[in-house]
Amino acid sequence: MTEDMRAANGLRQSLEDLPGSLIRHVAEPNMGKEDLLKLWFGEPDVPTPQFIKDAATAALDDNQVFYAQNRGVPELRKAISEYASNLHGRDIGIDRLTVTGSGMNAIMMISEALMSSGDNMVAVGPVWPNCKETVRIMDAEPRQVALRLGNDGRWKLDIDELFAACDDRTRAVFVNSPGNPTGWVMPREEQRALMDECRTRGIWLIADEVYIRLAYESDLPLGRAPSFLDIAEPHDRLIVINSFSKSWSMTGWRLGWITHPIDAGEAFEKLVEYNIANPTTFVQYAGITAIRDGEDFIAETLERYRRNRDIVVQRLGAMKRVTLSRPEGAFYAFFAVEGITDSVAFAQQLIDDVGVGLAPGLAFSEDGEGWMRLCFSAGTATVSAAMDRLEPVLG
Ligand SMILES: Cc1ncc(COP(=O)(O)O)c(C=O)c1O
Repeated sequence: MTEDMRAANGLRQSLEDLPGSLIRHVAEPNMGKEDLLKLWFGEPDVPTPQFIKDAATAALDDNQVFYAQNRGVPELRKAISEYASNLHGRDIGIDRLTVTGSGMNAIMMISEALMSSGDNMVAVGPVWPNCKETVRIMDAEPRQVALRLGNDGRWKLDIDELFAACDDRTRAVFVNSPGNPTGWVMPREEQRALMDECRTRGIWLIADEVYIRLAYESDLPLGRAPSFLDIAEPHDRLIVINSFSKSWSMTGWRLGWITHPIDAGEAFEKLVEYNIANPTTFVQYAGITAIRDGEDFIAETLERYRRNRDIVVQRLGAMKRVTLSRPEGAFYAFFAVEGITDSVAFAQQLIDDVGVGLAPGLAFSEDGEGWMRLCFSAGTATVSAAMDRLEPVLG
């Protein structure tokens, strides 16, 4: 490490340069407030279902409390392989799967695997900041190509702009679909075009598909979003991130997985060893039950969120100061508010004046300034009450 890569406290300069989360900046001082409708974080509305908790308890009783294999216990990798092969209609073998200690842990390990000083990663944004900041930790540069809202209320990606943002130091393109905060779902034809271009240029494609099971306008079986795994070949330089957090209501359990080419398996085995040694053992056994028996729960969750989305689209979309992007997936409404230039200050104003906690658009990059994110995975009554409170300010 050279002198200029070191901060005054002796730690890496890149850590000092990392921005803190603006979502937390708004939320933390206001968490204890009473009568506040908190729609700022991306969390499911109901706790983990009992049958998954029971599986964790049984695993504890069975003393699944010791170290396990780096890449996940074989039973979980097999269960994920069956689930993914069924979902994508093609064989996804366990040699392409590594279990991780959450989607976030996967994002960090992928940065460690790909990024060196001077490299860059081009992300489609606005996007959850964590997807890009890990690149900065590795002294590489996150770039962003912004989606634009069309007159029909749907996001559009200019794929040529995305290709133009890549250069010979671009190691990866990062796509999060369904997207946080936009609710954008990348159409199949664009996935094909991007996959082809990445193949031609030898650029890795990182697909964050943690919201794949939450798609509201899908004609695919099980109502899920299109996935790069539907079209990729096993040797493609593609890494797909998945998580138990959102679909199975398991945000606090910290469990996820990645799908990667077979020959990347050994590297990820080492990265898991040096990051966490292995994902929590008894949690992995709960994961087996979640993935094998969780389909009814996912279907119910999707219907509940669909109801909430329809309320938000109808009511927020009708408010005069609001330009709403139509959420096609995930569980966020991202909207521009006429006349605001400081989304952080506006978030505080909404908390103080009407008791609704939202995330400021600036948290998701400069392109998000003037926008707000509302998470509609809360209970339907809470979402409706938030609409009642927002109407006098935004209507
Ligand atoms: C786009 C995206 N990717 C990854 C994650 C990480 O999920 P987890 O670390 O809970 O698995 C989140 C969480 O909000 C997210 O929004």
